[in-house]
Amino acid sequence: MTEQEVKVIPNLGSWFRLSNILQMKNEGRGFYQDLFSSQGEHVIKVQLVEPTILVSDSIAANYVFDPEYINKESILGFSGISYNSIMLKYRTPSMFCNGEEHDCKKANSMKIFDHRFKEVTLEQLNTVIQESFESFNTFKAGDNFEVTVDKMAFAFVSFLVLGKKTEHAICRDWFDRSIRLTLTKVLFKPFTYWGDKAVADEVFDEVSDTPVVQKLDHISPDLKDKEGQTLELLHNVCLNGAPLFGEYSISCFARYLDSLDDGQRLSLKEEADQFLNEDPSKFEEAFGKLELIDSFILEVLRLNPIHITGTFGRAKKDFVMESKSGRYQVYKGELITDFVFGMHRDSSVFEEPMKFKLNRDEKNAKKHLVTFGGPWDRQATPTNRKCPGQDQIFIGLKLFVIHLTRCTFDVASDLTYTGKNPARGLATDVPVVMNKVVYKK
Ligand code: HEM
Repeated sequence: MTEQEVKVIPNLGSWFRLSNILQMKNEGRGFYQDLFSSQGEHVIKVQLVEPTILVSDSIAANYVFDPEYINKESILGFSGISYNSIMLKYRTPSMFCNGEEHDCKKANSMKIFDHRFKEVTLEQLNTVIQESFESFNTFKAGDNFEVTVDKMAFAFVSFLVLGKKTEHAICRDWFDRSIRLTLTKVLFKPFTYWGDKAVADEVFDEVSDTPVVQKLDHISPDLKDKEGQTLELLHNVCLNGAPLFGEYSISCFARYLDSLDDGQRLSLKEEADQFLNEDPSKFEEAFGKLELIDSFILEVLRLNPIHITGTFGRAKKDFVMESKSGRYQVYKGELITDFVFGMHRDSSVFEEPMKFKLNRDEKNAKKHLVTFGGPWDRQATPTNRKCPGQDQIFIGLKLFVIHLTRCTFDVASDLTYTGKNPARGLATDVPVVMNKVVYKK
């Protein structure tokens, strides 16, 4: 092959869609990992609900993150899974918009985030996490540990973005109704939407009654559509932020217990203790020095990306895609996604990629982690697709790990992780069940 040769993207897996879908159901992320390994290609096509191009290296993935090549649609996960627009009063959040509409909505959100993230202090955020950990002490055998962490996540993200902890049960219900199988939606339309509008209204009222939304006119005097912006914030908290923060926290918990030895756990605890023993007025400075905790979290994010694949988009035009395994022809309208799980295990980027290592080069990791819709070290801007919440969620995860080091656990479930359960993005194959958690302040 010459360097200039343009290849046809190889169609891997079965020609029968159902067979691939069933394999994905049984093998989870391993199904795609095996397809990539089988031929050494970094760009492949798989017949799923519709033919889907998957890319597994950072050169090819850049096209997926670039609005010049990709148009977004309301696709969550795979085509076949849809976002339920009733939950946002039929508005489309920036994440699924294109062009000027996207840039304008994202710019408005980023202005509000900038204001809020400057206002909120580390001490306040630490208090939110600490209070959640204190509630772990009331935990009884049989209580659902993952729900307890989920509550913490919603408390943290709603306080972070909106200035108030919103009510967990209704916000979680809102999220659960926001993602639907397209087929179920079509076949059982009246039933699948039952009650959605009432829940959407209730959560909208809850979000409206928060300090940040109450102050929107002051934060952003030129804002023309206050209701639209409130819905955008609702979406950021209840869909983009809180559920994912909760899932990553559980992954941190699982990795803390099953990937570290006693010595490593002790070192993390010493770092955490140093931080918590600081005077809160010095928190900001001390927080930047938690090197081991930073490495720990980056490794969790690397090995346990929550989504089966990553950002989805449709080719805006015909183009030739460069990649580590050659150049491929992509046609307008084709669906493309980045296979984050594989990218984070690329042995040409990460030495011994399957190993959980606390001493990886942080700069290299940040260049190649793409969990937040683009490389970690790329800044979010109104015109790109990068998540503007990444750094704040990193703060949340650091606080979570800091307090985690002060806990002892009696775990009743198996913490093994193979990635084979596609329904779970977390670092265990089965839900975490706990007999007891003891948190010492
Ligand atoms: C662990 C938590 C989070 C993860 C893993 C995450 C990940 C992502 C990813 C992958 C995207 C790109 C989606 C796509 O284009 O398909 C995205 C977009 C976005 N995220 Fe996050 N996010 C998290 C938390 C947050 C939080 C807390 C906020 C709000 C402060 C936020 C705000 C946004 C916004 C506004 C977008 C849309 C960007 C755009 O329109 O270009 N995210 N996030």
